Amino acid sequence: MMRIAAYHRYGAPEVVGVEECERPEPGPGEVRVRVHAASVGAADAAGRSGSPWFARLAFGLRRPRNAVLGSDFAGVVDAVGAGVTRFAVGDRVFGATGADGGAHAEAVVVREDGAVVPLPDGVSVEAAVAICDGAMTALPFLRDGGRVGAGSRVLVNGASGAVGAAAVQLAVRLGAEVTAVCGPAHVELVAGLGATRVIDYTHEDPIRHGAPGAPFDVVFDAVGKSTFRRARAVLAPGGRYLTTVPSWAIMAQQLTSRIGRRRAVIMFTGLRSVEAKRPDLEELAALAASGAFAPVIERVVPLDAIAEAHRLVDTGHKAGTVVVTPVPEYQEA
Ligand SMILES: NC(=O)c1ccc[n+]([C@@H]2O[C@H](COP(=O)([O-])OP(=O)(O)OC[C@H]3O[C@@H](n4cnc5c(N)ncnc54)[C@H](OP(=O)(O)O)[C@@H]3O)[C@@H](O)[C@H]2O)c1
Repeated sequence: MMRIAAYHRYGAPEVVGVEECERPEPGPGEVRVRVHAASVGAADAAGRSGSPWFARLAFGLRRPRNAVLGSDFAGVVDAVGAGVTRFAVGDRVFGATGADGGAHAEAVVVREDGAVVPLPDGVSVEAAVAICDGAMTALPFLRDGGRVGAGSRVLVNGASGAVGAAAVQLAVRLGAEVTAVCGPAHVELVAGLGATRVIDYTHEDPIRHGAPGAPFDVVFDAVGKSTFRRARAVLAPGGRYLTTVPSWAIMAQQLTSRIGRRRAVIMFTGLRSVEAKRPDLEELAALAASGAFAPVIERVVPLDAIAEAHRLVDTGHKAGTVVVTPVPEYQEA
């Protein structure tokens, strides 16, 4: 048997509780991972609450299709199915199950040819799931969506969130000059991530009123609190507005407009192919192992505190990633 965080109807954080179920066995080509850490993030909160409405297209129209949330996992392979060659029992690994969820559990079964890679020594399981939660979105947005490189002037809105905190660090690493926007509680944290300047959005609205550092080659709204219409004012000609949050306006603008040669880009990073995800997982883990990238972690909680983890995410003001530890790392399974 194993313990899982399960829910059977959409609602507040309290709809998720700890239950027991059969420990799954890996089939051919599959590995079972003892889950030492999993992230609890925006997608889990949307899946739990069934809100916004389009979340139900993915999670189940009337009630949740899968009882166990959680995509990002890190842990140790504890069983392998027939024909598995990439991994062996005892390997430290991390990755993402995607829309299947299932990581808020003591064990998860994944395909060996899925988005799962070795976890280097020196990278904690908590840092690994924070990479999946934040940097695995920030990196493709900046590199592929924004074409950020040496000398780019980048504004990151929501710079203290999971995606934003990773974006600030990765943009700096790509050679950009970064202006970061967050709330008053996180100004110091974000300054420590390498931003050239940090703006408190409760004091000024850099997108509405312009900002030191403007015009920007890239405005990356990591929390989707702005609009392309407004951001155009601070974008350089040819600049790109990136947003993580879909709206009808942004979908239409992405398809139809390059107003004044400024363009809007939205991506759905979870839907990228395994072939695209794996090298990014490896690159980000190597960066973390070398100390060149440090994922931000808001809090680490045990499985029994899963509702508390959801409450933290629901505040909309966490810094970095909330981590749940179904099997604490140094506890025997
Ligand atoms: N399109 C995709 O592929 C994709 C992938 C992953 C995530 N997402 C989406 O991206 C969004 C961000 O995810 P996340 O995990 O980074 O969120 P998060 O960690 O929950 O973001 C929290 C942060 O947002 C900041 N914030 C709140 N209101 C703000 C405002 N008005 N202006 C600027 N910052 C504000 C908060 O800063 P303060 O506390 O300092 O106020 C807080 O640190 C979510 O909506 C998620 O669903 C999309």
